[in-house]
Amino acid sequence: EFKKTVFPAGFLWGGATAANQCEGAFDVDGKGISVADTMPRGKDRFSIIASPDFDWEIDQNKYYYPNHLGIDHYHRFKEDIALFAEMGFKAYRFSIAWSRIFPKGDEVEPNEAGLSFYEELIDECLKYGIEPVITISHYEMPVHLAKVYNGWKNRKLIGFFENYSKVVLGRFANKVKYWMTFNEINSAMEFPALSQGLSVSSGAQDYTNRFQAWHHQFVASALVVKIARELRDDIQVGCMQIYAPLYAFDSNPVNQFASQLKQRAFDYFTSDVQVRGYYPSYFNQLLKEYDAKAPVIEDGDVEILKNNTVDYIGFSYYMSMAINETNSEKSDPASGNLMQGVKNPFLESSEWGWQVDPLGLRISMNDLWDRYQVPLFIVENGLGAKDEIDENGEINDDYRIDYLKKHIIAMHEAVEDGVDLIGYTPWGCIDLVAASTGEMSKRYGFIYVDLDDNGNGSLDRIKKKSFYWYKDVIATNGAKL
Ligand code: BG6
Repeated sequence: EFKKTVFPAGFLWGGATAANQCEGAFDVDGKGISVADTMPRGKDRFSIIASPDFDWEIDQNKYYYPNHLGIDHYHRFKEDIALFAEMGFKAYRFSIAWSRIFPKGDEVEPNEAGLSFYEELIDECLKYGIEPVITISHYEMPVHLAKVYNGWKNRKLIGFFENYSKVVLGRFANKVKYWMTFNEINSAMEFPALSQGLSVSSGAQDYTNRFQAWHHQFVASALVVKIARELRDDIQVGCMQIYAPLYAFDSNPVNQFASQLKQRAFDYFTSDVQVRGYYPSYFNQLLKEYDAKAPVIEDGDVEILKNNTVDYIGFSYYMSMAINETNSEKSDPASGNLMQGVKNPFLESSEWGWQVDPLGLRISMNDLWDRYQVPLFIVENGLGAKDEIDENGEINDDYRIDYLKKHIIAMHEAVEDGVDLIGYTPWGCIDLVAASTGEMSKRYGFIYVDLDDNGNGSLDRIKKKSFYWYKDVIATNGAKL
């Protein structure tokens, strides 16, 4: 049914999580509150955060906050990593919660309890020969920086992030080779709250602020590359972005051009800066399109960007969308992770309306490779779906296996097309709190976690059918799908 696939030796098969979605223990051992800790549960959680009166406060009387418990990975990481090892993981992508290390973000001295937690986590991975892949910032900056400094709009954040990165790289670079700076840095195009700490009251609606925040993030990210290289010769620091093909809805040149512009703005702008080391020549056009003023670029920034470009591109891939300028009333908006477009009549959607497009992954990989010629790392991919435990206590998630299988085949085809791919770490390898809705019932994992949307459950871990399937995939290096 499927053709045989074998990946390059040393291919990093694994899985991915983020601290705020799995650790829980949100106020334990000196951890400060992060922006993610202020997100209530619910399909409207993003609109709550994007509303004019949102003030980053936690109101337990009004809302339930699922990230506070996560899946209690903080206390169960040994059990979880043992399960990853049983599947044969070669890599585990996780994030460091910035507010565990610097509770408010602007301190000078780090919180040792936070550092020793990650030390243990890293050592646990290494014990099984699992390569840790660390995201330094995954939608979880200390909330103090958003409240008091207006997030990344403020240039001071560069210094705070530099200090934080110096601490974690200084401590762990000898054990960890693969790093990423900002998770899905381009997501601020649609939703700047989590990645830039920009609320409406701090000017999120004005794109001038988003571009200024991006500029500060670009400089901060480049400084991380610089710090990392001084610590270890073979260190690999990547950018991380959402990549989604934004197809023209039809062959009308108007839609073709609209798709080109949208791809530039969403899929390429941030990587153009981070991979090439300078702002693209279409930048003025982009500012005009978003009615934004040029960001303030200080002396020395241009050199910092130029001299410290990333080693690889990490990206998440879940879906694609179509762009229809000419006939938009006839096409329905599509749902997705932090981007906008319309439904594509040729694609099916997940239960959450995300359009499933394996060939789009091959297209994406070829486009990214053709444009940049740096290695790629697929650090998120997967299907959010409801799982049922049957009468035998089993979870037969064939739909998830089918989704992953098709994407692995597409990914292999892209490798055969000539793309240099480092690895594949599907999202939410163990069920965790969904970022967009705060639901537990939107599950991605190979491992089921007994916890519902209201926080009830034993938190027991149960292996799904996909657990055994993925184990075989890894053991045969992709030959057995
Ligand atoms: C990506 C994020 O956008 O998509 C993850 O980096 C997130 O944090 C993932 O969990 C899936 O989205 P969701 O909303 O289904 O959890």
